[in-house]
Amino acid sequence: MSEQTPSAPEQKKIILSGIQPTGIFTLGNYLGAVKNWGQMQQDYQCYYFIADLHSLTVHIEASKRRAQTLQAFTQLLACGLDPEKSLIFVQSHVRTHAEAGWILACCSQFGELSRMTQFKDKSSKHPDNINAGLFTYPSLMAGDILLYQADYVPVGADQTQHLEFTRDIATRFNHTYGETFKLPEGYFPKAGARVMSLQEPTSKMSKSDTNPNATISILDEPGVIVKKFKRAVTDSETEVAFREGKDGINNLMTIYSAITGKTFEAITSEFAGHGYGDFKAAVGECVAEELRPVREKFDELSKDRPYLESLMKQGAEQAERISLRTLSKMRKRVGLYLPK
Ligand code: TYM
Repeated sequence: MSEQTPSAPEQKKIILSGIQPTGIFTLGNYLGAVKNWGQMQQDYQCYYFIADLHSLTVHIEASKRRAQTLQAFTQLLACGLDPEKSLIFVQSHVRTHAEAGWILACCSQFGELSRMTQFKDKSSKHPDNINAGLFTYPSLMAGDILLYQADYVPVGADQTQHLEFTRDIATRFNHTYGETFKLPEGYFPKAGARVMSLQEPTSKMSKSDTNPNATISILDEPGVIVKKFKRAVTDSETEVAFREGKDGINNLMTIYSAITGKTFEAITSEFAGHGYGDFKAAVGECVAEELRPVREKFDELSKDRPYLESLMKQGAEQAERISLRTLSKMRKRVGLYLPK
């Protein structure tokens, strides 16, 4: 799997990624994924979508899901995705995804799906709702990626196993039925691929965390962001240095590095002789500045629902057309009957 920015190709390569509409995006979503999506638009053919079918694995009120989907779509635009350059759509508006997911579920083995860390984590945290969708989630995700013949999939480190699974399924399908899919590669940012909780720095920062001090939402006000960083859990030492056992400081250094582009060594020298207080304030301020235009753009876009819905419709039509090419091949290969 690639860890470097793929070099700009002559003929545009295809980038695809998705995000679930399960709450306001966190700084982890932003640094691990969405910020990089925006930066790739110039050099690649980019497809980005809201993974609302995936979000059905968690049961919430229908009206809440609908609101979160519109909000998530708006956040993608606010984070810099440009509908003139990228194809942006909602997964459930494009019917090919569910069908591809089913065909690939039939090529996925019980054993390999049972080994998925995300399935094991989610089913141990919510033993009252271990639904079949949670189990076959990786097959649907493989369909999302393979339908568009993606070259690169920019995601955070928590999605590595799902990407390996996608490559395994694609290889198996190609071998069994004949060459159909391109094998996609993950693309992970150098800094920010795993942003941790500010209160429990051994767990990842997550949209669904119930402790508001643990996560930075991309729509938080600057004052709130600075305050949350001031309260971030660190350790009893005083040196700003990246090393084992300093999970809280390592996380803050990762965030600072992802935003400023500074190396860990440069950050250590910058804060030599300062206490953690100064460092936390600097991280808080740089994050607040980075997210200020995102929040402002979100507020502005949210006022124009007809515009947002027209983009959704446009995106869905185009995505259906593109993905239908691969789905037609899949149907043919597995032997679904096609009347003349
Ligand atoms: P989701 O919605 O959980 O997260 C969206 C993106 O944010 C990244 N991410 C993080 N990166 C760094 N630090 C964190 N703390 C952090 N938390 C989340 C995730 O790695 C992801 O890139 N299964 C996917 C959605 C999906 C998808 C796809 C992605 C569905 N189909 C096809 C790519 C291609 C998910 O649940 O992402």
